[in-house]
Amino acid sequence: MDRATELELIREIVGLAEQKSAFLDADISHSPIRRYASVEQFDRERATIFTRVPTVAAQSSEIEGPRSFITKNVMGLPVLLARDDEGVARAFLNVCRHRGAKLERAASGCKRVFTCPYHAWSWTNTGELRSVPHEAQGFPHLPRAERGLRRLPVAEAHGFIWIVANADASGKPDIDDWLSGLHRDFRWLGLADHRIAAEETIEIGANWKILMEGGLESYHFRVAHRDTIGPYFADNLLSYQVFGPHLRSVLPRVSMPDLRQTPEERWEIRRDANLLYTVVPTMQFLVQQDHIMWFLFEPLATDLTSVRMATLVPRSAPDTDEMQARWEKNQAITKTALMEDFVLGEEIQSGFASRGNPSHLFGRFEGALNRFNLVVEDMVYGQS
Ligand code: FES
Ligand SMILES: [Fe+2]
Repeated sequence: MDRATELELIREIVGLAEQKSAFLDADISHSPIRRYASVEQFDRERATIFTRVPTVAAQSSEIEGPRSFITKNVMGLPVLLARDDEGVARAFLNVCRHRGAKLERAASGCKRVFTCPYHAWSWTNTGELRSVPHEAQGFPHLPRAERGLRRLPVAEAHGFIWIVANADASGKPDIDDWLSGLHRDFRWLGLADHRIAAEETIEIGANWKILMEGGLESYHFRVAHRDTIGPYFADNLLSYQVFGPHLRSVLPRVSMPDLRQTPEERWEIRRDANLLYTVVPTMQFLVQQDHIMWFLFEPLATDLTSVRMATLVPRSAPDTDEMQARWEKNQAITKTALMEDFVLGEEIQSGFASRGNPSHLFGRFEGALNRFNLVVEDMVYGQS
């Protein structure tokens, strides 16, 4: 983000606060319940979004150094992420090419060769078939080149390893192109120079979009978060900007409207606001004063989502016990507030069966939710 943009975003919020107005879309909008409750919709999302667009599989520091690896499920696929001897990140399906056993069982480690636990076929960390026990007798004329590990498109950018979770896809994703301008903000934030200081993963019984919607408006802050973070934020004031399919939201703290008494050269957006980046399909960054909360949503079913939440801190921050205790305390505070949203999300999800609402309503100050849903709808139905 350049300085002119930073000032413009603050000016907009200060001006709205002065007029006692929220940031308003032209109209209210409706969000059909099908988006959150239909199994068919979820299957289409898997076919048209989750397996089509770049998605973050890991933070770069999770596989640090040549030959390190991790295994995990990404968008429903068993994935092996490995650095080769040169440290270049590779992504493979974690599935043996003989008879389909799970190739690597460990969650993480350091290996040059991956050997299947079933019949010991093995592959290099670049995915080439290396050895097949009793090959000459059992598999004469084996077309070895066709039995390499199934590769997934992969790229490393802004401190993350991005993949396209689809073994039939090819090429290297252009992440900056996909970010549609947000890459400039990520450079400004120094996102690539962060590490994970604390993290946890929890399963929530709600649709992934319900959970992501929770961060896109501050209409609920003084109600749902009245005993936690609510009092620290300006009431129902939040702006958003569009970057291709993605969004940036500015969530002003109560201190931001007072900036009109301060000369502009002393304005700093991170001091008086949180920034929320929504990276389609399933990632959000909540930028706070000296760290960034990273949320990765893994849709498991229409009504079930795994949420990974992590505190990202600058690598330059002192790595002391005192600082670590502070990051962990912050992680706990964020989790407490987030659980207030997630409990609501689960209650909303359980209410769908009642058919009480054919659709949800988004008010004019909830416009970011409409925008996010329209992007998803366009991806799901625009390609069919
Ligand atoms: S299934 Fe992996 S070696 Fe046979
Ligand atoms: Fe919330």
